Amino acid sequence: MGGTRPQRILAADDRAIAEVIRHLDAGGIAAVPTETVYGLAADAANPAAVARLFRTKGRPAANPLIVHVTDREMAARHAAIPPLAERLIARVWPGPLTLVLPKRADAPLAGAVTAGLPSVALRAPDHPVMQAVIRRLGRGVAAPSANVSGRLSPTRAEHVAGLDVPLVLDAGPCRVGLESSVVRVEDDRLVLLRPGSLDAATLAEAAGVPVEAAAAGAGAASPAPEAPGMAFRHYAPRLPLDLDVTEAAPGRFLIGFGAVGGDLNLSPSADVGEAAARLFDALHRADASGAERIGVAPIPEAGAGAAIRDRLRRAAAASGGLP
Ligand code: TXA
Ligand code: MG
Repeated sequence: MGGTRPQRILAADDRAIAEVIRHLDAGGIAAVPTETVYGLAADAANPAAVARLFRTKGRPAANPLIVHVTDREMAARHAAIPPLAERLIARVWPGPLTLVLPKRADAPLAGAVTAGLPSVALRAPDHPVMQAVIRRLGRGVAAPSANVSGRLSPTRAEHVAGLDVPLVLDAGPCRVGLESSVVRVEDDRLVLLRPGSLDAATLAEAAGVPVEAAAAGAGAASPAPEAPGMAFRHYAPRLPLDLDVTEAAPGRFLIGFGAVGGDLNLSPSADVGEAAARLFDALHRADASGAERIGVAPIPEAGAGAAIRDRLRRAAAASGGLP
């Protein structure tokens, strides 16, 4: 996981995209841009490539991957699409929404992608480079966030530096900056497994049904694991992190929001969407600042704020004492 082998960061022009596709087609892994965060991509149908991906991230085998598709048609080769999913796909894709759907028996997927579950997580990303990669490869692309498992997500090509991956396709900073919302579709029910930049109210409006919260943790009412990934440590900066901080203090790098200025401000105009786009870069900068701790100003729960607060709570719980 040390990133000791040389890494090439390629500006995402046609030639670089073609090189990455050849590399993926041959069973390699590469970091690719999406509108949410950079992903670590592998051909989802190639067991050796998928195994390499899990190994490179240090990802627990019990945590399944998202398969990226171009559109509904490609999604239908991997999963059954119930009417509620059709509605969401029609309204939200391409975009930052991952749907957990019943996997087709003949889905062209390496078994490890879904960690043995009968479901598969599918997303059509809203990014021209990632769309070109999937379309020209012609197969689903497995892509978790391109960070060592448990650490900060990458929203710029240079954030991928800690990962042992030979190629990074650079398309600049990610527009959304937070991972997709993950929703399980069950007949006429929608269960939010991971909050994302699309908030629950927007999803409920698009679907025409309420969005239920996932049962928290093990021992919940449902016998199936609700959201395997949420059980693991996530989004950990190197430094310890304090939430809802409003005052500067010696040795503490303050990430501001709105009127709380800070050493760096996520959004001086208190716009949660802008704050979401800047969040991970701010945490990467804080980690590299030479400070001893990180403080983050209060962020409201509204809109993308709920997902920002979710990431920050997990970061605070996981942070500190890391190399
Ligand atoms: O925005 C994103 O979603 C980014 C970009 C690269 O697309 N990808 C991403 O992937 O965040 P990852 O692997 O870091 O997160 C995938 C989440 C995990 O929490 C995982 O447990 C959940 O989706 N997941 C995947 N397959 C699942 C399934 N069959 N059932 C329930 N949860 C699933
Ligand atoms: Mg991740």
